[in-house]
Amino acid sequence: MTSNMMNRSFVLVSRPKGMPVESDFRLEDTPVPNPGPGEIVIRNHYASLDPAIRGWLDDAPSYLPPVALGDPVRASTIGVVEASNVDRFKPGDWVMGLNRIEHYSVVAPDDFMHPIDISLAPSPTAYLSAMGAVGLTAWFGVNDVMKPEPGQTLLVSGAAGAVGSMVGQLAKLRGARVVGIAGGTEKCARLIDRYGFDAAIDYRGKDADALSGAIGEACPDGIDLVYENVGGIGLDATLMHINPYARIILCGLISEYNSAPYGTRNLWRVLVNTATIRGYLVSEFVDRFPEGSRAIAQLVSEGKLVFDEHIEEGIDSTYRAFMRLFEGSNQGKMILKLI
Ligand SMILES: NC(=O)c1ccc[n+]([C@@H]2O[C@H](COP(=O)([O-])OP(=O)(O)OC[C@H]3O[C@@H](n4cnc5c(N)ncnc54)[C@H](OP(=O)(O)O)[C@@H]3O)[C@@H](O)[C@H]2O)c1
Repeated sequence: MTSNMMNRSFVLVSRPKGMPVESDFRLEDTPVPNPGPGEIVIRNHYASLDPAIRGWLDDAPSYLPPVALGDPVRASTIGVVEASNVDRFKPGDWVMGLNRIEHYSVVAPDDFMHPIDISLAPSPTAYLSAMGAVGLTAWFGVNDVMKPEPGQTLLVSGAAGAVGSMVGQLAKLRGARVVGIAGGTEKCARLIDRYGFDAAIDYRGKDADALSGAIGEACPDGIDLVYENVGGIGLDATLMHINPYARIILCGLISEYNSAPYGTRNLWRVLVNTATIRGYLVSEFVDRFPEGSRAIAQLVSEGKLVFDEHIEEGIDSTYRAFMRLFEGSNQGKMILKLI
């Protein structure tokens, strides 16, 4: 039934050196193959453009294999099953999974692929934002890993972004004092006015010393919990203000994705404060994603959690939309509308 359908894919042509350039990718049109045994065909409606994609473009060992040259770029998508040779997926079902940036994906469902009930969501795209991987990253990172308590100060970097804005709100719901670092006065105002942070720090135009000074002012009682999304000089400046037994989770290091690793200089602060640094991947909690999505949907419906989406139209816009993540010009979860 699929043999006369054409697919358009966003394909990796060459591995980026530093910041990706447009010629690292191409759009490719190919026929949609019929699904084999154990496979389904998904018509992808939306793709999630995530900073993590940048890491998958490098030929380096990581938690997922690199995207092969000539293959469509990997991304989380939501879409509708068009054809299925798998009993638990029926044509017409909405599904979410780790697929590729393309109109149609022919895949054997893995652990990441599951049906989604769009009647539970304010919009289908919520499964790529608040109720999807970024919301779940914040949910499990805050409630299962960090567990902030009243009286504690939590600092989050990349605070106005998809993950950071939810981390701050979820930590506030647990009673912590929340401070965010973000780029620009508009984003900092949004941290306070829309997401309810206690204080905001604009990192733009500040060197490590100036940033450290601003963090010290915003965190007069020091920092108990660090939710790190950015790395680089911001993490170094943050470490100068951690309290004894502080806990730091490394969720992302976006400032280092397009350059050689920065090389954190203030690790001595971890030592003298007997602090803990822990790496964190949301995939640690993959078997609890439906539970997390339901809990987030409940908070959204009660008006206790707000989220923002930045939706760009069309697969032809993929490169420009992806680059917004590194320019900081996305205003909320970056999503690509494919169909
Ligand atoms: N561990 C996990 O399982 C997991 C899952 C999802 C995401 N993450 C990580 O979480 C972080 C945030 O992801 P997201 O999806 O929520 O993206 P996002 O925050 O919505 O968008 C990326 C933001 O990062 C900031 N940024 C980009 N380059 C920067 C630089 N050189 N220095 C400082 N800030 C920079 C920009 O905000 P400003 O305007 O404020 O600069 C930009 O808007 C990323 O590091 C990502 O890799 C981790």
